Amino acid sequence: MKINGQTALITGASSGIGYELARCFAQDGYNLVLVSRNTDRLNEIANEFTQQYGLGKVTVVGADLAQPDAPQRVYNEMNNQGIRVNVLVNDAGFGEYGMFATETDLQKELSMIQTNVTALVHLTKLFLRDMTTRNEGKILMLASVASVLPNPLMAVYGATKAFILSFSEALRNELKDTDITVTALMPGATNTDFFNRAGADGTVAHKQAMKTDAADVARDGYEALMSGKDKVVSGMMNKAQVAMSRVMPDPFITANVRKQMARPSNGNGQHEKEGKKQMATTGSLVGAVLILGIVALAYYNKARYTDFKLSDLHL
Ligand SMILES: NC(=O)c1ccc[n+]([C@@H]2O[C@H](COP(=O)([O-])OP(=O)(O)OC[C@H]3O[C@@H](n4cnc5c(N)ncnc54)[C@H](OP(=O)(O)O)[C@@H]3O)[C@@H](O)[C@H]2O)c1
Repeated sequence: MKINGQTALITGASSGIGYELARCFAQDGYNLVLVSRNTDRLNEIANEFTQQYGLGKVTVVGADLAQPDAPQRVYNEMNNQGIRVNVLVNDAGFGEYGMFATETDLQKELSMIQTNVTALVHLTKLFLRDMTTRNEGKILMLASVASVLPNPLMAVYGATKAFILSFSEALRNELKDTDITVTALMPGATNTDFFNRAGADGTVAHKQAMKTDAADVARDGYEALMSGKDKVVSGMMNKAQVAMSRVMPDPFITANVRKQMARPSNGNGQHEKEGKKQMATTGSLVGAVLILGIVALAYYNKARYTDFKLSDLHL
């Protein structure tokens, strides 16, 4: 049993990546504050982790982060209980699948912006002020590969994740002369309740998600957070896709994501076949970009130390 005396507050700890992140902290002996709407599930998790890891203290806070006053209530609860939060994990979030113009539910999208963006900003403001006074603390933000890849058929969701990455990187710069770090975790499609809850079950991306374990994604995020990194893209294919988004034209990148968001709808899996074909094309392009990158790097390194010229490559 490890006890380190520090406290990590994790929103969205009732399932998926948030639950696995909470486990990472539990394994390292942190006191936990678990936040979500489902307090029954959070109490089960508190018992499970206490039995497995012998935690010092676990506090369960029920909060619907789609309600504008929820972040302030969570913060007040910490003050009332005299809990100092050393690590803030902004994990809670959800998506909504469909064509924005004709299919998705506006009320759900507005709640999504409130939960994914407004509550995240509000919680960060409240807890970061205290961290700044103490000049210590760590913040982990659940961004996504969707932070850099526009997300047709989940347009509002993708935009919330773009906000989170931009916000995280700007904050990190503002805090560079302090002992407070901000880290963005950027998972790709991951096997959690996310796709079912968003109504995106059965899509190509949902099938891809089944190959990625939430525990592995959480571990990547936890390690990046602990080593004070600015951001981490979880998974090799996702890293390649993000790298490619920096060099390929935006309409190509967006069209590629659209194929991944498709759901076989005509009975013969046409959309799925298109999605797989697009993934193969993406793979080839990623390979080409990587090879070009390696050649450019080799050239740059040689040119720095010798009078090597590009023509010496005899391409
Ligand atoms: N799975 C993926 O493919 C993927 C990829 C990239 C990024 N992400 C991000 O990872 C984070 C976690 O998602 P997940 O994949 O682990 O999905 P998940 O299993 O559905 O977990 C979502 C968590 O967010 C909480 N939550 C949702 N709405 C809430 C609200 N209004 N108030 C309080 N808590 C709320 C849920 O708790 P309750 O329902 O108990 O309230 C749950 O604990 C999200 O920010 C998501 O955008 C996921």
